[in-house]
Amino acid sequence: MEKIRLGLVGCGAIAENQIRELLKVEEAELCAVCDLREDLAKDVAERYGIKAYYTDYAQMLAADIEGVIVCTPNFAHYENTIQAAKAGKHILVQKPFAMEISEAQEMIDAAKENKVILQAAFFERFKGCNLKMYEILSSGRLGKLLFIKAQMSHTGIDKFWLPKTQWFHTKKKSGGGPLSDLGAHHFDLIRWFSGSEVDEISAVTTNYFEEDEIEDNASVVLKMKNGVMAQTYYSFTTVGPKNFCYENIELYCEKGTLLLQNMDSKGFKLRMCGLDDEDFEEVVFEEQDGFYGMERHFAQCIRDKKTPVTTGEDGKICLEIIKKGYESAKKGVTVKMV
Ligand SMILES: NC(=O)c1ccc[n+]([C@@H]2O[C@H](COP(=O)([O-])OP(=O)(O)OC[C@H]3O[C@@H](n4cnc5c(N)ncnc54)[C@H](O)[C@@H]3O)[C@@H](O)[C@H]2O)c1
Repeated sequence: MEKIRLGLVGCGAIAENQIRELLKVEEAELCAVCDLREDLAKDVAERYGIKAYYTDYAQMLAADIEGVIVCTPNFAHYENTIQAAKAGKHILVQKPFAMEISEAQEMIDAAKENKVILQAAFFERFKGCNLKMYEILSSGRLGKLLFIKAQMSHTGIDKFWLPKTQWFHTKKKSGGGPLSDLGAHHFDLIRWFSGSEVDEISAVTTNYFEEDEIEDNASVVLKMKNGVMAQTYYSFTTVGPKNFCYENIELYCEKGTLLLQNMDSKGFKLRMCGLDDEDFEEVVFEEQDGFYGMERHFAQCIRDKKTPVTTGEDGKICLEIIKKGYESAKKGVTVKMV
């Protein structure tokens, strides 16, 4: 089988997770990596057995690759995407999609003009547990979805995540704190699970550590156009065991409830109960790493000339939700999406 030849730009913290999973994707071959810092590009290339490394992105784009995975900081997604589209390369872009809505639109337009695939990197959609929840919801056995409760939180950028370069704390470079960084994942999931778009958003943010210019806690309530409500919590200050990120997604439906929780370090547990059940039943699901599923999907879309399940448009919509969230928090009012 001919493999899809890919390059990756930005050899930082997330790149390590993505490369580890990409190397397991049989439809793809990671041929090159690029970083402004030669030491990082060289180190990643050597450790993962990648043939070529670059510090000049244009040079990597000129190489024999069909697609590029953008793992650079948020402020660089726009430039990296536009350049790749112009070079005729398919693109998978990390979240949040861009810094500004106008940039997101230009990225979408550039992909269209150059006839390349533009996939927004929402890896949650590919996790085995989330796919199982979606399957159960879609089967209709729990009736209509009414309410979603979701949390993603950890001890913070410098204690939990440990990026390789310093940009997360600067609002101009990151676009924001957990509302944007962690919310991006769930806002997409909430759209997917509810099958609807956000109508109203109401957010409250706090900053317990004043040396940072970004918020470190955010609580966001979303009202979807079809009436589903979601209450969410994103934080960089929640203490848990080492390397632990709380992630809970609770789906309350007319005839039943689905609870996805990782309240200990043993992974996700999915439980379900119906109207007449005495107790929760544990739901067995096929494990799939989100990065593996997402990157495999990218390679398959290139191979089969298909539109990905999360497009540039989804990336842009999510960015609009984030922007409206910050507007709501700043003004202290509920904001309508246009
Ligand atoms: N999906 C997830 O779960 C998840 C988790 C963490 C981070 N992310 C996202 O991944 C992206 C990267 O975050 P990170 O934590 O890996 O950051 P990082 O600082 O660890 O890595 C970024 C790398 O990009 C390089 N870089 C910066 N500008 C560049 C350019 N113009 N050309 C080439 N290289 C450049 C830096 O030198 C650095 O090595 C961000 O968009 C972030 O939001 C996603």
